[in-house]
Amino acid sequence: MNAATMSAEETEFRFTDSDFTFLRELAQEHTGIMLGEHKRQMVYGRLARRIRQLGLASFSEYCAQLERDPEAELGELVNAITTNLTSFFRENHHFEHLAEKALPEIMERNAGQRRLRIWSAGCSTGEESYSIAMTLAESDRLRGWDVRILATDIDTNVVGKASAGVYAEDRVKGIEPQRLRRWFQRGSGVNSGKVRVANALQEMISFRQLNLLGDWPVRGPFDVIFCRNVVIYFDKETQRKLFSRYAKVLAPQSYLYIGHSENLFRISEDFRMLGGTVYQKIDATGTPHAS
Ligand SMILES: C[S@@+](CC[C@H](N)C(=O)[O-])C[C@H]1O[C@@H](n2cnc3c(N)ncnc32)[C@H](O)[C@@H]1O
Repeated sequence: MNAATMSAEETEFRFTDSDFTFLRELAQEHTGIMLGEHKRQMVYGRLARRIRQLGLASFSEYCAQLERDPEAELGELVNAITTNLTSFFRENHHFEHLAEKALPEIMERNAGQRRLRIWSAGCSTGEESYSIAMTLAESDRLRGWDVRILATDIDTNVVGKASAGVYAEDRVKGIEPQRLRRWFQRGSGVNSGKVRVANALQEMISFRQLNLLGDWPVRGPFDVIFCRNVVIYFDKETQRKLFSRYAKVLAPQSYLYIGHSENLFRISEDFRMLGGTVYQKIDATGTPHAS
């Protein structure tokens, strides 16, 4: 896009093609997120706020600042470009699969150590992680088990919101009344119109900032990984590397749930597709599943 075709929204700060190229290359290198031409307006809108805040005069000045001191500004850039759309019990069939199929199998397999580990990778504002926690907490058979959920995201803003566990009431509208009563507290006074998740759920989860492209200070093996609606923004090579790393931290025959528009075709041969974007890790002998 040249200056003549620049849209009305891009008028406050000069935003050239080379600024956009610089920002999209930096974003992809650091986060894996690909920003296509159609994301140009989004990038302008989200970063214009930041440029105003910093008192800069143009995108070129912003890019220069990023180049000079990437450590200081990269986090802000990342927070601005991520897409954090999520909801409680989104793609509910995964939670049904977890409760009805995965949990009974894992409980049989791990009966010795009575240990269960789940990773919500790309957890955004936490709705996915709390939906996992509710699903587990509602299973009486897990009483006395060592259960931990690791919930991570690259975006520090959403990790903060997730660990606070406070949501606007309209975010929990779709949750069954019985569940809502059991796991959420209605706010009053300054908190009216908000709900807060129960401590019992928060205590099951460790929220951490983590870039899936970087080091993983995680202790596996995991019995289940949720990585839903995250890799849709990554190129194939980045997806290949990521799923190969997931396979290494997953226990044999463990489960992987991905987003509705994602698949592992020509991405990974470490998993068997069970349908409904549910995958199971193939064990070392190549046997998909014993039963
Ligand atoms: C659309 S949300 C999906 C949230 C949730 N998993 C769901 O399906 O409802 C995608 C999340 O992936 C995170 N993300 C994107 N790139 C990432 C990366 N390189 N490392 C970790 N998280 C990343 C974003 O910050 C965003 O919160």
